[in-house]
Amino acid sequence: MGSARETGADDTVSFTQMSDASQADHDLLAARLVPYLTEAPDRFLAALAAQREERSSGYQVDRCEHALQSATRARRDGADVDWVVAALLHDIGDGLAPMNHDRMAAEILRPYVREEVTWVIAHHGVFQLHYTGPFNGGDPAAREQFRESPHFTACAEFCERWDQCSFDPAYGSDPLDSFRADLEAVFSRTPFDPANLCVGTATGLPR
Ligand SMILES: [Fe+2]
Repeated sequence: MGSARETGADDTVSFTQMSDASQADHDLLAARLVPYLTEAPDRFLAALAAQREERSSGYQVDRCEHALQSATRARRDGADVDWVVAALLHDIGDGLAPMNHDRMAAEILRPYVREEVTWVIAHHGVFQLHYTGPFNGGDPAAREQFRESPHFTACAEFCERWDQCSFDPAYGSDPLDSFRADLEAVFSRTPFDPANLCVGTATGLPR
């Protein structure tokens, strides 16, 4: 048994191990989760800002600028908020999951955006081999295994129009804070709401 004490009015739980938790403890935690979820956009903006400090990639732009450039291109193409936020966060996992950063970003987005958008982000790493494979030992045709997917064209276009081209230090990206409202719009949605997931539909990128 771990040590336990009375749950504070608005303080912390009584337990030090979950097996000792009370209903009051869980009520407190549930109440704390609401503002924590609401603050998600702040955490994304902070994570993107931190990517400004990563100077060792070798690209002419830092990872934050790459994200801003991708999202700005999506925005200027008339993409909806699902695409804009996905473009902004598509490489957010570079630092923590460099070998499967695409899947990490997809899992962040999955409860909140259209299924096709999640699919595109989950697979953009493989599709980017179309550009990088000839030079880094990857298979540039690896994306062909997904040729029959309803999201193949969207993923190829995502990479072509918003990702592979967004390493340009001369591009005038919108500022980081201009994406706050987009992040708030997406991450204030009810998680896994079928109305947002639109399972089975493929609308693609805007023309
Ligand atoms: Fe990227």
